[in-house]
Amino acid sequence: MTTTPHSPSPAVQLTEHALAYLHSAALRAAALLGVADHLADGPRTAEELAAATGADPAHLRRALRLLATRDVFREDDAGAFHLTPAADSLRSDAPSSMRDAVVMLTDDPFWRPAGRLADTVRAGHTVFDEIFGAPYFGHLERVPEAGAVFDTGMAGLAESENAPVAAAYAFPPEGTVVDVGGGRGGLLRQVLLRNPGLTGILHDQEPVLRHHTLDVPDLTGRWRSAPGDFFTAVPAGADVYLLKRILHDWNDSDCVRILRACRAAMTRPGSRLLAIDAVLPPGNAPHPGKTMDVLMMTSLNGRERDESAFHRLLAEAGLKPARTIPTDSTLSIVEAVAG
Ligand SMILES: C[S@@+](CC[C@H](N)C(=O)[O-])C[C@H]1O[C@@H](n2cnc3c(N)ncnc32)[C@H](O)[C@@H]1O
Repeated sequence: MTTTPHSPSPAVQLTEHALAYLHSAALRAAALLGVADHLADGPRTAEELAAATGADPAHLRRALRLLATRDVFREDDAGAFHLTPAADSLRSDAPSSMRDAVVMLTDDPFWRPAGRLADTVRAGHTVFDEIFGAPYFGHLERVPEAGAVFDTGMAGLAESENAPVAAAYAFPPEGTVVDVGGGRGGLLRQVLLRNPGLTGILHDQEPVLRHHTLDVPDLTGRWRSAPGDFFTAVPAGADVYLLKRILHDWNDSDCVRILRACRAAMTRPGSRLLAIDAVLPPGNAPHPGKTMDVLMMTSLNGRERDESAFHRLLAEAGLKPARTIPTDSTLSIVEAVAG
């Protein structure tokens, strides 16, 4: 096979692929050091950034130079680094800041099992328990620091998708919405703010709910929290049940258990369930869901799914799939009604 001057040889391509983890490592370093925060007022040299972040100037420059090859930061001819749109999102106070999400996605509970992916692929299940002595969410409960990194990172990741998801669905004018496994409540906040006739219930494990973000003036008296285990029961009698980035954490049989608990709670006529996750397209084209899919099998026993896989799970739990609604994010809404 011949190569053109513009296409790297297979050896170079594979070397770059093999070392792509260094992009993740450099991104993590920039996030932990808070480099982007120090560029908010304008470009600065590696020396200035190193002084501000307590780093070594030459080493910092080399890490940032790698990131600049991917449009995260830009170095000019005079050696000053600038924010790019992606780097700007790394600022702690950026709207929908991705800083906490980057730290979470590159933290040990994801990073270490990724190095053992071959073992996971051989075994057909995650080796997370072998490394950490408990399954993913059990580990987060046992190690509060890891739990805090996950919860803040997840809330940060979700910030960019909550508003588009809330905007994509025509919620009923009044009634109650339960966000099942709703984390710190970012999605419920958006749904309630957009739909003033609705009240909400934020459901998750108790330690997660302690740090909810629903204490905003416009929502006073319109929500409550409900600690619980979604394998056992979720609050009954609501009009809409949201499950955002829940089903992708679990294998099919666990998903059916969660969905059956929701189905049992859907006692109100016309009650709907919205499964909100990536819906994988066919073919080889890149899709963020395909990356997330491998992450889900690596650290949890979860997976991303195509539409027919969602429909099978819903049907098995006694729910009737209705529509799939795209959103202005990487996630879609698979709507179901009580079957
Ligand atoms: C991937 S996060 C998604 C959070 C939120 N829905 C979002 O999209 O930002 C999964 C959530 O499920 C919660 N969770 C895990 N196991 C649970 C259980 N057995 N019962 C209730 N919530 C659980 C976690 O605490 C976490 O908040």
